[in-house]
Amino acid sequence: MKKIKRIGVLTSGGDAPGMNAAVRAVVRTALAYGIECIGIRRGWQGLINADFVQLSRESVGHILSRGGTILYTARSDDFMTEKGRKKAVATCKMLGLDAIVAIGGDGTFRGALELSRLGVPVVGVPATIDNDVGCTNYTIGFDTACNTAIECIDRLRDTMQSHERCSVVEVMGRNAGFLALYVGISVGATAVLVPEHETDFQKDVVERIQGARLAGNTHFMIVVAEGAGSAIEIGEKIEEAIGIHPRVTVLGHIQRGGSPTGRDRETATRMGYYAVAALAEGRSNCIICTKEGGIVEIPIEEALTMKKHLQMDRYRIMEVMQFGGMVNP
Ligand code: F6P
Repeated sequence: MKKIKRIGVLTSGGDAPGMNAAVRAVVRTALAYGIECIGIRRGWQGLINADFVQLSRESVGHILSRGGTILYTARSDDFMTEKGRKKAVATCKMLGLDAIVAIGGDGTFRGALELSRLGVPVVGVPATIDNDVGCTNYTIGFDTACNTAIECIDRLRDTMQSHERCSVVEVMGRNAGFLALYVGISVGATAVLVPEHETDFQKDVVERIQGARLAGNTHFMIVVAEGAGSAIEIGEKIEEAIGIHPRVTVLGHIQRGGSPTGRDRETATRMGYYAVAALAEGRSNCIICTKEGGIVEIPIEEALTMKKHLQMDRYRIMEVMQFGGMVNP
């Protein structure tokens, strides 16, 4: 791979708290290697439209603690077409970009793979609050989103406890239950509904509420991953089945904002650093992943075939925390 002199960096897909920390690390590591850094705004669409800004050390000052992304983000239908991708390659040539660092989720990396196949070296940095990228233990934004949801649900619990009510809370996660299960365990949920575990409404909801009532609880917290169903519908079904009137909260995009936690800032900084170090040392077309607390590089094509399964042992722990039940000796 030819010596890297100038790179582009972009953020793509749903934004995630910590993306700015990753952008900052990419820029400052590039400058430390004597590499210029160009910010591409609005994800892959920005590469097609040549929507760019020169980035300096100062450009990324004071963004470490800010949620969102100073480069904006977008999903790009044009980039799904060969015509769009060829325009993106032309932009790379026009700007003299030797490589691209793409910060985002699975969709971002599918685009990165296509661009690499057209001859543009790419390195991916996993960033999505869903934590559903199969090749990496952790994705930037997950910890902040979980803590935001936990804080919201703790507040809900105060009023549910006072009124002895049932709360049904819908959290994000797209088609995965990582966020819902982590939050459910952290708030001591009565029940957690995730797409990876088909909901048996009677067993997983009604009997859990009845069991909690028998255990002396007078308020109940049901956490629903958006991929497992609608909190509004779950609430209606609870009312039909048990005769109580649950209060429903859809946390929505609150989970995408806020100042990134220390874990997200530190992980994003390490990932951004190693993304540029790989390029500077002649490696590309890989995703920067966390594995057992360290950083590994996984080829994009292989990374996109990898699946991450919900830790069902944690699901069992959640059940035991609520209802005991004998754990197999
Ligand atoms: O992928 C991140 C995410 O927040 C998902 O959890 C959610 O389903 C989706 O993005 C929402 O997408 P949008 O911001 O385009 O509405």
